[in-house]
Amino acid sequence: MQTINTGYLTLEPQVAAHAPEMFIVLSDPAIYEYENEPPQSVAGLQERFLALESRQSRDGSQKWLNWVIRLPTMDLIGYVQATVYLDGRTAVAYELNSAYWGRGLASQAVRAVIAHLVGHYKIRCLSAVLKKENHRSMRLLQRLGFTLACARQHAELEVEHDEFLMLRTLPPSSSHS
Ligand SMILES: CC(C)(COP(=O)(O)OP(=O)(O)OC[C@H]1O[C@@H](n2cnc3c(N)ncnc32)[C@H](O)[C@@H]1OP(=O)(O)O)[C@@H](O)C(=O)NCCC(=O)NCCS
Repeated sequence: MQTINTGYLTLEPQVAAHAPEMFIVLSDPAIYEYENEPPQSVAGLQERFLALESRQSRDGSQKWLNWVIRLPTMDLIGYVQATVYLDGRTAVAYELNSAYWGRGLASQAVRAVIAHLVGHYKIRCLSAVLKKENHRSMRLLQRLGFTLACARQHAELEVEHDEFLMLRTLPPSSSHS
């Protein structure tokens, strides 16, 4: 995994050493308005990050690519994650501390990760699953060219009834290795 620079943000491959600072970033309750919950402890987060440092599932069928997002001030503000499946589908997810919402920083970080994935991995299409009420995430995905999947695609990926599946297909020539 490589560090990604957007010209403003630095996206560093996530490692266990990021856990103490990321624990503070991810303890913001606003992040969990629609789903999930904050990490319970620094040690627990460290353990999770350590497992993710393998960069792949045990059976090798999924690549786990996680980046933390750093400002020029050196503060960490959140993360972007991509799960690359064998068939080239790549699921993206992201969380930013709410102190940094509304500035286009998430868009900038996710856009840079997508460009990196297209340049370095065999990816065929991008997907994201979000709670239907999560309008901020929906706007971000639309800004990045994702559109709502059809009912069949929702069923195939077993998306819950209170969730939307958003997809962005990539031209075959756009995936490199
Ligand atoms: C989803 C999430 C990352 C979106 O963050 P965000 O700051 O709203 O997203 P962006 O970086 O795209 O910022 C967009 C906003 O900044 C504004 N903005 C300011 N300058 C901008 C710029 N240069 N470029 C783009 N947008 C800019 C936009 O107008 C937009 O405001 P709007 O939402 O009122 O229209 C954030 O809400 C979050 O972390 N939520 C909790 C976790 C979560 O829900 N994750 C997704 C699970 S599916």
